[in-house]
Amino acid sequence: MDKISREDVIRFSDEYMMTNVARWWKDDPIVIESGKGAILRDMNGREYIDLHAMHAVASQGYSHPKIIKALKEQMEKIFIVATDFYNIPQALLAKKLAEITPPNLKRSFFVNSGAEAVETATLLAKRATGKPGFIALWHAFHGRTHMPRTLTGFSKYKKGMGPFPYAVFHVPNYYCYRCPLGLEYPSCNLQCARMLDDALKYGAPEEIAAFIAEPIQGTAGNIVPPKDYFRVVKNILDQYGILFIDDEVIAGFGRTGKMFAIEHFGVQPDIMTMAKALGGGFPVSAAIASEEVGTAFKPLDHYSTYGGNPLAMTAALAAIEVIEEENLVDKAAKNGEYMIKRLRELMDHHELIGEVDGKGLLIGMEIVKDRKTKEPGVEETTKFRIELRKRGVIIGPPGWTGSRVRINPPLVITREQIDRAIDAMDDALKAVEGR
Ligand SMILES: Cc1ncc(COP(=O)(O)O)c(C=O)c1O
Repeated sequence: MDKISREDVIRFSDEYMMTNVARWWKDDPIVIESGKGAILRDMNGREYIDLHAMHAVASQGYSHPKIIKALKEQMEKIFIVATDFYNIPQALLAKKLAEITPPNLKRSFFVNSGAEAVETATLLAKRATGKPGFIALWHAFHGRTHMPRTLTGFSKYKKGMGPFPYAVFHVPNYYCYRCPLGLEYPSCNLQCARMLDDALKYGAPEEIAAFIAEPIQGTAGNIVPPKDYFRVVKNILDQYGILFIDDEVIAGFGRTGKMFAIEHFGVQPDIMTMAKALGGGFPVSAAIASEEVGTAFKPLDHYSTYGGNPLAMTAALAAIEVIEEENLVDKAAKNGEYMIKRLRELMDHHELIGEVDGKGLLIGMEIVKDRKTKEPGVEETTKFRIELRKRGVIIGPPGWTGSRVRINPPLVITREQIDRAIDAMDDALKAVEGR
């Protein structure tokens, strides 16, 4: 590769790429050169503790030697085999996914991104049921190709991009801190989940193929549902014979302290989508379904030229092996608990923090102007992100109110790095408060 200066990287990117990327810290952008574990290094040689993991992709940490070695070895053999042929790593990965996902899930289809996994799941649900419609949640995020964007429940990601012609409607999400129905858990009796019943009873359930939800809403702000939410939802779906698609693109592969986040909630989906940590950074995704649903596609109903290519399959096999060998599921559970405890301790010193909640290393922290009114601290959150970056810690953009900080580091993050990151947060909050 040609040698290039930091300034030229920025100039070429700004001049020759489409303008859709909201690159962060515009007045002093970060140009990433390398990464190791939970640490990112920029072209100025500055290191950062990463609490973002490239949108929860880099669970195994950056440049994991096991994934690199597996990729190098496979590359020497062959790196593209279309799915029309049998290929060795694809067969091994399909079997492995059937072993580690909930017991009813068995048949996989491999694609290349989260949005494609959602496209696959919805096409499959239509084929399996013969019905055209879907129900999704407010503030859900399912990707940016047409069908996933239709399912997405954020109007800001849809503005000017419509019409969205598929038969999709949205019902209230679980978000107890800011309940969309103005109620309080548990006296609410899970009205948000029960509204699904109303929507179906007085709607057209015979038109609905599936309900899709993230088990923990990621882009909305790492929002955890009440523990019985999905049981109530699944009971309603079963009454109407509607499939459940569990979108684990962010939450899957150990991030929440279970291999898949839905395991926290005691229900089994009919279809699960996965991406991000599946490849440990390599672009690969999948939808997996039960035997009954997963045999609904007829040959050539669906196809992806790159889907299931041996490099992607090899990366995924190695990435899953890393999760298992390094006990990353257990580590996420323990470090997540520790991080939540330490963040809650910060609440004693910072009125700006309204709530800290999460599962494993998928954590949301509300920044508010006033704890009583819960008015979102949007400007404060922006300042916090800038102050934190100055102190060598990276977090991504906040959830849908612009004030719910999302914390999802690589699962390999060490206790010492967590402590340093939280000390930096303490300091950054003081700076935001003008102390
Ligand atoms: C839950 C969920 N589903 C789907 C997607 C889309 O993934 P991709 O950006 O790889 O298309 C995302 C992306 O963040 C996601 O969070």
